[in-house]
Amino acid sequence: MEKNTNKNPNHQEDKQRDLQINKSDGTNKFLTTNQGVKINDDNNSLKAGERGPSLLEDFILREKITHFDHERIPERIVHARGSGAHGYFEVTHPIPELTKAGFLQETGQRTPVFTRFSTVAGSRGSTDLARDVRGFSVKFYTQEGIYDLVGNNVPVFFIQDASKFPDLIHAVKPEPHNEIPQAASAHDTFWDFISLMPESMHMVMWAMSDRAIPRSYRMMEGFGVHTFRLINAQHESHFVKFHWKPKLGTHAVVWDEAQKISGKNPDFHREDLWEAIDTGNYPEWELGVQVIPEADEHKYEFDLLDPTKLVPEELVPVTIIGKMVLDRNPDNFFAETEQIAFHPGHVVPGIDFTNDPLLQGRLFSYTDTQLSRLGSPNFHEIPINRSISPTHNNQRDGHMRQEINTGRVSYHPNSLGGGCPYQAMIAEGGFASFNERVDAHKVRERSASFSDHFSQATLFFNSQTETEQNHIVKALRFELGKVATTAIRVRMLGLLNQVDAGLAAKVAQGLGLEVPASPEKPMNHGVGADAEPGKHEPTLTAQTVLSSDALSMLKNPTVTPTIASRKVAFVCADGVSEASVKSLKAALLKNDAKACIIAPHQGFIATDEGGALPVDFSFLNSSSVLFDAVFIPGGQGLNSISEDRDAMEFINDAYKHCKVIGADGEGVDILSAPLFSAKGGALQDGGIVISDTAGDAAFAQEFISAMSAHRYWERENML
Ligand code: HEM
Repeated sequence: MEKNTNKNPNHQEDKQRDLQINKSDGTNKFLTTNQGVKINDDNNSLKAGERGPSLLEDFILREKITHFDHERIPERIVHARGSGAHGYFEVTHPIPELTKAGFLQETGQRTPVFTRFSTVAGSRGSTDLARDVRGFSVKFYTQEGIYDLVGNNVPVFFIQDASKFPDLIHAVKPEPHNEIPQAASAHDTFWDFISLMPESMHMVMWAMSDRAIPRSYRMMEGFGVHTFRLINAQHESHFVKFHWKPKLGTHAVVWDEAQKISGKNPDFHREDLWEAIDTGNYPEWELGVQVIPEADEHKYEFDLLDPTKLVPEELVPVTIIGKMVLDRNPDNFFAETEQIAFHPGHVVPGIDFTNDPLLQGRLFSYTDTQLSRLGSPNFHEIPINRSISPTHNNQRDGHMRQEINTGRVSYHPNSLGGGCPYQAMIAEGGFASFNERVDAHKVRERSASFSDHFSQATLFFNSQTETEQNHIVKALRFELGKVATTAIRVRMLGLLNQVDAGLAAKVAQGLGLEVPASPEKPMNHGVGADAEPGKHEPTLTAQTVLSSDALSMLKNPTVTPTIASRKVAFVCADGVSEASVKSLKAALLKNDAKACIIAPHQGFIATDEGGALPVDFSFLNSSSVLFDAVFIPGGQGLNSISEDRDAMEFINDAYKHCKVIGADGEGVDILSAPLFSAKGGALQDGGIVISDTAGDAAFAQEFISAMSAHRYWERENML
């Protein structure tokens, strides 16, 4: 019998060993056809004479073109745009009392993972920096089979019932008549739908916050969203919410910056993840759980089965149980990142579902969609999807079947095959669903306990700092301002007014509209004779928690501040001080950060000291939105920068986006323009770091420490 044990820490490498058999490398090999025939000429097709027609018999040409013709597969219906990496999950705090899942039993146990981050709305080639929810999917290759935690970077969802998911996605995708806009929610159909779905209001607050424009995949939280169950060896259940907490802290860019990045480098997040792993700055998250005993199911003012609600950490704290480290880029994007197939229904013994009606619909959707995306019921055999725990069953055949099942038996029960493969008892690791009692009428209904659509939206808004609230106001003004239909804008103001009157008033002012006295009815709800079947009028429930610091990014600074893997643009020109450049560059390198020299032209720039420095990018093909901070070194030649409009726009943008700007020596003069007012002016803030001496070591330390704070948001009030 195969033993289901996961106690060997070396399992971290099991998936890499498993993938190895499918890897192919053409180095020092002959070029061949797919049939293994060596090719003598790959540059010319077979013709009847040099200038004659091509011949049908050219099997080499036909094979090559045919394969090319079929290279594309359908993109994911949602989350088409994404990037992923390999890594491992390590248990730091085992929870055998809560779950029998083998991979969570002992400190130090490692399980290989593949994690894919994504946007939702855009197509495969769309920008990384769209205002959008990010997918956060982790495939655990455990010794007891595959476990997928398919979550998002937001802990709640727009809708409560799976039946609305196709409507939500149709509304947010480009409008069907003209396929506009790509990867954007700022259009009529999205807000038309949202304005009629008050249950979406909590998630809308998150989507309009800076959570929807992360600085990096590495700086996002992740959430399982739904309440799941943990089942222990005694078959006892506890409700659980999953949280991923990034080691680098949770950080965002600003909306103006996001839009510019979308033009300058639409692969910004993809490149960031790739480069970080490539340079050994392995991204890391802690996995936390909020655990709720079965007996407390009805203890709260919200329903644990309602995916538009979170459990405030003030009510149930997050316990950290492990960490995930991503330490290996894929070898091949298509084979791994594109072909990976996640499914919230991939669970192992010890983890189970709840009756959350959104989760229940998802449990159907993923395999169904993957059948058409990957083209065959055998997609579990694709190397990246293959379980490292052995699979044996009586499923057979289908397109592209790889497995060669031996023997004459493909049914159960059988006597001809000795009853094999045989069922596993629970004690042998056999999966058994939680024995939940269900005794109910069959109804097309939504529970009345799902009816408070606004209280947690208000909780989220109230939990934000003033800066974060202002960003939400601006995002709503931007998005609704792009909605052409005034009635939709007004309907949204009516809903926002239910969340926070001040918020609605500010958005209304930006739109030049009045907040309606009451929300428009009917929304999707109603009572009495006009009621839609099974719907409840939105209600408000008294809340225990009115503000939760855990929901704000700015109230949660990075635990261990670091600038590792951050990028600094050095604004240079001929005549730059080499000492100044080299001094800060060395200090940054020591802290695992990167320095890039940007100058009016590429090639080399002459230094004040008579040397030359290689230029990474010119102001033409770079932008400060691609960097975390800007440094203007000293040097006699630097004055020319103030006359270079591209260079000044570079610095202006960094200032506007509240980034750290440092200058030393003559570089300080550039920052003395009224906008920056570096020399003690009223506009100076902690993010402006200056030193009169070029190459000063104390300056480098101050600059690095300022950078670790990410941004200087108070500057927004000065602009
Ligand atoms: C009823 C509601 C939902 C349905 C029907 C649904 C359906 C889908 C479908 C069809 C895909 C494409 C899968 C593929 O082609 O491999 C997908 C991907 C995804 N969904 Fe959902 N989804 C729903 C709700 C959610 C929710 C609530 C979350 C977050 C908790 C979520 C997270 C994701 C993620 C992260 C992916 C991308 C997985 C990857 O990286 O490949 N979905 N979903």
